[in-house]
Amino acid sequence: MASTLGQQMRHSAQTAQLLDGLVEQVLSFSKRIDGVKGPDSACEAGMAKDIQTIGQVRSRPLFYNYLGSGLGNGPYVELEDGSVKLDLINGIGVHLFGHSHPRIVRASLSGALSDVVQQGNLAPNVEYAQFSEQLGRIVAKNSRMRHVWLATCGTMANESALKIARQKMKGARMIITFKNAFAGRSTLMTEVTDNPSFKVGIPQYDEVLRLPFYSPNDPPDKTLNVLKEHVAKHGKNICCFMFEPMLGEGGYRAATREFFVPLLEFCRSQGIPIWADEIQTFTRTGNFFAFETLGIAEYIDICTIAKTAQNGATMFTPEFKPDPGLLGGTFSGSTPALRAGMEILKMIEEEGYLGPDGKIMQIHREFIGMLNELNTTTCKGLLREAGGMGLMVAVTPLDGSKDKQLALLKSLYKNGLMCFGCGSDPYRIRFLIPAIVTSKDIQVAKKIIEKSVLELA
Ligand SMILES: Cc1ncc(COP(=O)(O)O)c(C=O)c1O
Repeated sequence: MASTLGQQMRHSAQTAQLLDGLVEQVLSFSKRIDGVKGPDSACEAGMAKDIQTIGQVRSRPLFYNYLGSGLGNGPYVELEDGSVKLDLINGIGVHLFGHSHPRIVRASLSGALSDVVQQGNLAPNVEYAQFSEQLGRIVAKNSRMRHVWLATCGTMANESALKIARQKMKGARMIITFKNAFAGRSTLMTEVTDNPSFKVGIPQYDEVLRLPFYSPNDPPDKTLNVLKEHVAKHGKNICCFMFEPMLGEGGYRAATREFFVPLLEFCRSQGIPIWADEIQTFTRTGNFFAFETLGIAEYIDICTIAKTAQNGATMFTPEFKPDPGLLGGTFSGSTPALRAGMEILKMIEEEGYLGPDGKIMQIHREFIGMLNELNTTTCKGLLREAGGMGLMVAVTPLDGSKDKQLALLKSLYKNGLMCFGCGSDPYRIRFLIPAIVTSKDIQVAKKIIEKSVLELA
């Protein structure tokens, strides 16, 4: 078959051999990272200086004294000071297969051979087509969505989704979403986000209507009744119902199918577009999409993803096709990121991660079991309400106060485990667990969590 020079270069045996050699080189160093360790005195000062520079240049310090060295091994990451942490937050949920995974290193290296680093909507390369096609196939399997528009991050994917919904609804303004939602950092996504500390001094546009999220103690129709009140008041000025299938930054609170279905049925009966923000849940809940895990796929008109896909994307049904000019932008994603994203999706599909007994749900059960065991033994009552979906797990530590949560995060970090906070009243700690974590790694996490909690109890 005729092929371009670009194809010949990508597929040549010599290119493959060179890539294999580079991956071998990375692995020869990576495999020497085999567990948590403290800093190397010869490297400590260098990292401290670089971290200070970051704080000065961007005017705000980093949350953690973290600067990756560029090498890791599975869930372990080496920092510039030579220390090694057990990374259970993964860049807030980006590195699904942990650090220095050979297949992902290889895929991004192959992307780096491209003539260009960034691809865009005017002049895409072949990876743009392949990645879009792959996502289109994955989303079409169990939903009505057939189209994919790439974006550089989750926030931009959400901005595209909002414009698509508003255009379809002829300029309607109001967005219905949940209390404690998180949607990103642009001006409008900050408004959708329900965290006052993220918008100090920022004007409100009053375009968001809120619903209480699921609570097992609430009367069954509580949220539906609030939804009906909003629709009675705002009618045709509502452009969409946008929701995270599980509250993310808002506290890792999962809800049942029975909670969602009446809300979705009502929105559908009123012609209100339904948009699932799966930026954090995508690939993590035992299916590609949490709307599949929850059995609500048929209702979704628009869905946004990013993080583990290494790139943002907005997906939508044929009824939501945007008019010319609505979507665009210079960047759509970098070639290494698109190649790595494709490899990740392929691995998830082919290597037993999905399904109720797949690797993701096995890790979920084991991790929750570990937290519950601590909560009933050595850390009695100090690690409550362990829960979440799949590889997104959170627990309420100590007294659930902000001070204790922050102190515990810092103490865990000092002891070698990196995770992050979520929620408020109670303040929780959350883990975005990589899909390659082993039982041995979970036992390492257990020891560090136990030690850190007892230091603060
Ligand atoms: C549910 C949700 N929506 C949107 C975003 C924003 O994505 P990004 O940070 O890639 O812009 C995030 C990021 O954490 C998220 O969790």
